[in-house]
Amino acid sequence: MTGSRKYSNQEREKIMPANLTLSIETNAGGVAKSTISYNLAYELGVRGYSVALLDIDPNESLTLFCGLGEFKTQGTMANVYHPDFNGNWPLVTAWQGKIDKIQVCKGGKELHETIREVSKDLRGTYTLADRLSDYPLSHDFVIIDCPATLEPLPLTALAASSHVLIPIQPSATKVEDIQQEQLRDLLAVLEAKAKEIRKKLD
Ligand SMILES: Nc1ncnc2c1ncn2[C@@H]1O[C@H](COP(=O)(O)OP(=O)(O)OP(=O)(O)O)[C@@H](O)[C@H]1O
Ligand SMILES: [Mg+2]
Repeated sequence: MTGSRKYSNQEREKIMPANLTLSIETNAGGVAKSTISYNLAYELGVRGYSVALLDIDPNESLTLFCGLGEFKTQGTMANVYHPDFNGNWPLVTAWQGKIDKIQVCKGGKELHETIREVSKDLRGTYTLADRLSDYPLSHDFVIIDCPATLEPLPLTALAASSHVLIPIQPSATKVEDIQQEQLRDLLAVLEAKAKEIRKKLD
């Protein structure tokens, strides 16, 4: 994105539709998924959009990058996945005082148990999609920062998302072919999973 101009509501509607759910996922580690998540959220926030950042990584890098590591909240994303979730999203405002449009639902080690629960449940892949459908967030954008794997939590993000962003690291020419091949493989896997998910939803 260029510049940091704040847009009017009308301009915002023209530029980007609201209610977009974007998951940032790939099976590669350390490729800036969390960095992109919070920078994108911040830039959207500066432009006047509201953003919910969902951290579904047990390593909670996004939570830490947003300066919320020590911040006590009512819960984390683990509570959202829990069968007892009642729609009370444990959101906390990031960068308070600077910008008030970005809210984070923290990740954390509690998500290890969530991974086990989601894996056991036949409808586990749809948990997050169900939560967002039963208890919708009113933000213009929902951004989901995934851990560096494709299963099982990133699959819940895939099922819940309208868009997916796959970060890749730029590399020297010689390895570009391999990288492109790997990317094609990854896209094929994600497309197949998305097709599977859509088929089950129909
Ligand atoms: N454009 C960049 N230039 C230099 N360093 C970067 C850039 N983007 C991210 N980093 C650094 O690379 C490291 C990994 O980034 P980040 O944690 O965002 O990756 P990730 O894909 O979310 O990792 P993980 O797979 O562990 O979740 C961080 O220390 C981050 O500050
Ligand atoms: Mg990360």
